[in-house]
Amino acid sequence: MTRLLDVRDIEAGYGGMRVLHGLSIHIDDGESIGLFGPNGHGKSTLLKAISGLMRPSSGTIAFDGTDITGRRPPAIVEAGLIHAPQGNTLFGDMRIAETLELAAFSRRAGAGAAKRLEEVYALFPRLAERRSQLAKTLSGGERQMLSIGCALMCAPRLLMLDEPTLGLSPRLKEELAAAIAEICRRGVPLVVVEQDIEFLLSLTSRLYLVEHGTVVREIDRDNAPDHAEVMRLYFGEEGTH
Ligand SMILES: Nc1ncnc2c1ncn2[C@@H]1O[C@H](COP(=O)(O)OP(=O)(O)O)[C@@H](O)[C@H]1O
Ligand SMILES: [Mg+2]
Repeated sequence: MTRLLDVRDIEAGYGGMRVLHGLSIHIDDGESIGLFGPNGHGKSTLLKAISGLMRPSSGTIAFDGTDITGRRPPAIVEAGLIHAPQGNTLFGDMRIAETLELAAFSRRAGAGAAKRLEEVYALFPRLAERRSQLAKTLSGGERQMLSIGCALMCAPRLLMLDEPTLGLSPRLKEELAAAIAEICRRGVPLVVVEQDIEFLLSLTSRLYLVEHGTVVREIDRDNAPDHAEVMRLYFGEEGTH
């Protein structure tokens, strides 16, 4: 069976600093996965390597059976592998509607853009209400919605979301979580980076714990850690005292 994504033995870093050390993950057809682990251990770096924003020094990345290692981001977007990066990366002086339309620049996304725009507005009514508003005037939650909206405008065959609910209020987090669950229900495979293991398991079938730039544990619903173990995973033994 062809895997949707097959990342093998990736090494990557910044300048002389190695961040990813022989990291391997995969996504089988029809599944979504989650990534979690302590801050600064390479989760965002992994997503950047997959989407071509940085070039791995060794290892391979295959998407739907095609080797995409070292390809440039536009080619990877064109293949349908879409990355909604962590943090605010929007153009502040553009309006919501313009931002979403621009996001559908790729050849494959261009055709169905009008229909997709309506789908994004249906998923995020706040964006529809504010479609003429400048991105820089949006709240943190609304920016996150716009960022995911842009990713959806690219007609993803695989959508990678990097900490989409980071820093949001519980109410907004819930709103965003419901929208992500809906994207999942519509059949878009996801890679979701989040710290909340229960939330990840509600969306995806398998999780990878990333530490020191490599996968140290694989989790599914049958071997999900209990609360005490989660504390240990994040904070070491002292976290349980
Ligand atoms: N643009 C960058 N330049 C240099 N170092 C970076 C850059 N981005 C991240 N790093 C470093 O790489 C390591 C992994 O970061 P990151 O992949 O963002 O971790 P995570 O997403 O798991 O929090 C950290 O030590 C971080 O400081
Ligand atoms: Mg990160």
